[in-house]
Amino acid sequence: MKLIHITDTHFVKPGETLLGHDPKERLNAAIADINRHHADADIAVITGDLTHWGHQEAFESLKDSLSTLTIPVKMILGNHDDRAIMKSVFPETVLDENGFVQEVIDLPAGRFLLLDTNLEGTHAGWYCDDRLDWLERHLETSGDLPLFLFMHHPPCKLHLEPMDRIGLIQADAFRDVVEPHAHKIRHIFFGHIHRPVAGSWLDIPMSTVRSTNHQVWLDFTNRDTIPGSSEPPAYAIALIESDSIVVHFHDYLDASEKYVMGTVDYEDWQTPDAAE
Ligand SMILES: [Fe+2]
Repeated sequence: MKLIHITDTHFVKPGETLLGHDPKERLNAAIADINRHHADADIAVITGDLTHWGHQEAFESLKDSLSTLTIPVKMILGNHDDRAIMKSVFPETVLDENGFVQEVIDLPAGRFLLLDTNLEGTHAGWYCDDRLDWLERHLETSGDLPLFLFMHHPPCKLHLEPMDRIGLIQADAFRDVVEPHAHKIRHIFFGHIHRPVAGSWLDIPMSTVRSTNHQVWLDFTNRDTIPGSSEPPAYAIALIESDSIVVHFHDYLDASEKYVMGTVDYEDWQTPDAAE
């Protein structure tokens, strides 16, 4: 199964730019690249910060862009988003029994659990008792299905202090709910960080990818401000098989020279003699 992971599209009103870039233009370029190279993907998931200010016009502009994507797409909320406006512009958005944008999707690779870590008024992640109950229930009732979690905020600190300060507030409670089921969770895809990051938490592999618009520079010494950068935008391609998950990070606007590095004759290259 093939999953396209897009994150932090940060749409603004049409015609406006954000930190020197047009988020719509950049997502449109990603969509064109996905349509061209990954039309066989099963699904794309955008892990939050769909918009920058939560404006209705921004959500409508995002809807307009996504109408050109040829594969199915699902979205979750980030700290910059507005739940009610998202629901009004995307009425097909699935809400849980408490009105949060949380959804269960069964796909060939297993069960996707889409989580809502948004709380109006804060950039930190918020996962209240109602949402924890929802997650615990689905972790308990999913049997032996392989599980995949999607959330905007990472589940643990990433050792980037400014980003960790706006991390998941209820990280301890979240860990307590997830830990008994960690062996069933094959991967956590998150957003928020605007950088490529991979690792594991509770032995669960996890990854995120750069924003399609603006990035966070890697600076482990910075304490007080979020260092921005104009590193290129990216999306990720996750190839999920029963015994492996491979995540490729793709700088889809890269314009550097491409060339043939060598011609591979498989028979020759795979024999021990050829390796000498
Ligand atoms: Fe973001």
